[in-house]
Amino acid sequence: MEEQRVVICTDLKSELQKFLSSLTYNKLFVLTDNNTLEKCFPILQDVPAMQNATLITVKAGDTYKSVEQLSFIWSRLSNEGASRDSILLNLGGGMITDMGGFAGATFKRGIRTINVPTTLMASVDAAVGGKTGINFNGLKNEIGSFYPPLCVFVDSQFLQTLDKDNFLSGYAEMIKHGLISSEKVLTPLLQFDLNALFSNVHKATINSQLSIVNDQLTELVAQSIAVKEHIVAEDPKEKGIRKALNFGHTIGHAFESLSFIKNAPLLHGHAVAAGIICELYLSYKEVHFPMDKLSQIVYYIKENYPLFYFDCNDYERLYELMTHDKKNEGGVINFTLLANVGDVRINQDVSKDKILASLDFYRESFGI
Ligand code: GLY
Repeated sequence: MEEQRVVICTDLKSELQKFLSSLTYNKLFVLTDNNTLEKCFPILQDVPAMQNATLITVKAGDTYKSVEQLSFIWSRLSNEGASRDSILLNLGGGMITDMGGFAGATFKRGIRTINVPTTLMASVDAAVGGKTGINFNGLKNEIGSFYPPLCVFVDSQFLQTLDKDNFLSGYAEMIKHGLISSEKVLTPLLQFDLNALFSNVHKATINSQLSIVNDQLTELVAQSIAVKEHIVAEDPKEKGIRKALNFGHTIGHAFESLSFIKNAPLLHGHAVAAGIICELYLSYKEVHFPMDKLSQIVYYIKENYPLFYFDCNDYERLYELMTHDKKNEGGVINFTLLANVGDVRINQDVSKDKILASLDFYRESFGI
């Protein structure tokens, strides 16, 4: 699998122009959803290389990461004369980079793609690392492929348009990257002043304060992406160490699915934050993750993330949802645990009793 480049932009327009003009292609296509068409495409519209681009716009939202919309993208590419020499630039959050990446992977057996993520979640996770796909048959990312984009352009100016909930959703993946890598990556994430990004301090101070905060954020985002890139370069197809990236997700996905069943959908990263609490508890029980660090992360998540309410009547359903995780092997729920920050233990089999005890631990931590 080819390696992708990730560019942390200081000037997105000129960096994109430079990159596109270094490539040979017959047509450029830009995939957006209706939100990124309105809020993000205008930022790129006057890039010279984008002038003759053909726009393809789909409906926004994960429920539209569907075979119907994928078929719509294929039709547009086909009807507008896309060939193997064409390029598809995906401008959006994870839904767009996943689906556009898969459209690119499959159209005429593969055309080149470029990702320009517009959310924190896509910047630090979905757009980087080559996983592409769509939801199918009621299952998330059921159909897909590993197909890295030529390049990912990350620009924190898009993050300024995010609301706090969506920002925190992506930030949970950054916390995960800190936990699976090192104290050096984790500590500044826990110290970063999230309130300064979202508080309504007096306008006279906000501009200078915000620009410092934005520079710090860009640095944290770059470090976080570097953690993921390093792991993906070692194990692009998730045969081994890439499973580290699943930390917090086995129980997190079950919370996310339960929240959909209860018609009170959680954002992905909020579910992952709750999953991190449970899986750190399992790490403490199974492989001796230090209790003081566990308490520090629980405190951080309690302070910053909304509570996910469930009770013991939900336990069997949550367990059942975990047994359906596509990362399980041989019918066994497959956990990634941590013996310490940066000390990853993959392929951990944990008893049902302990898994249910980790749900108790979450509820006790939040006082529910
Ligand atoms: N989001 C996890 C991975 O890319 O492997």
